[in-house]
Amino acid sequence: MHVFQTQKELQIELNKTENQSKKIGFVPTMGALHEGHLSLLEQSLAENEITVLSIFVNPTQFNNADDLKKYPRTLEKDVKLVEKLNKKILVYAPSVSDIYEGNTISTSFDYDGLENQMEGKHRPGHFDGVGTIVKKLFEIVKPTNAYFGEKDFQQLQIVRKLVAKHKIQVNIIGCEIFREESGLAMSSRNERLSESARAESKLIYQILSQAKEKFVSKSANDVVLFVEKEFKKHPNFTLEYFEIAAEDTLLTCKRKVKNKKYRGFIAVFIENIRLIDNISLK
Ligand code: PAF
Repeated sequence: MHVFQTQKELQIELNKTENQSKKIGFVPTMGALHEGHLSLLEQSLAENEITVLSIFVNPTQFNNADDLKKYPRTLEKDVKLVEKLNKKILVYAPSVSDIYEGNTISTSFDYDGLENQMEGKHRPGHFDGVGTIVKKLFEIVKPTNAYFGEKDFQQLQIVRKLVAKHKIQVNIIGCEIFREESGLAMSSRNERLSESARAESKLIYQILSQAKEKFVSKSANDVVLFVEKEFKKHPNFTLEYFEIAAEDTLLTCKRKVKNKKYRGFIAVFIENIRLIDNISLK
């Protein structure tokens, strides 16, 4: 399967006369593909005539050098998976210099405060890096539809804001979280977990599900205290945060407002690996 390594080469393909009026679906990833990514690709294949997958570990969105170094890079395996799914998918796996042209820094973005909550608080600069790469990739691929998983729900809302503020012509499509059989949200980072930690990590979804049940009758604050107490019983986990926030503003829920949509958002460490997840509290 051919892998496009430069934006020029990809654009030559996309600009071919026969491709010009076709709908382009785009799935941006950092590789280490799992079934969650494959489901995004399947949705794109069903809804577009061309599907582009990007595989690029974007250095500017990592606030921790060690995390960037250890991020799984499995291009060969990824390409085999894609080839098995559909040979027509255009895989774009650029180098850092093809994307950043010698200037590997991020632009600063204003997402109307969405960037100051949760992941933004705990990973300074992360969403500037995400905005920078997503905007660059949209400029290169010019997709009709772009697919993002709801596991990174804050990222999804930020990308929606980026597109609205910069008037980028693309439909952003949020796709449900894909979970392992145990309930653990699929993530490239799961690859780094030992077998026992991976098994133990089903606890995250179990506690999120209990939080959802409790939210029906309890206050947001009580539910947060419940989750914090549960994680204290499991010393292999270090809870970074659990927050209940409104889906649209991502502001912390202090008092429930009728008909407002809330989610419980979590970041937790196990074996020094940071996992995030969230659950709709409808
Ligand atoms: O969600 C991801 O994998 C990344 O943040 C993205 C959207 C591919 C940008 O690097």
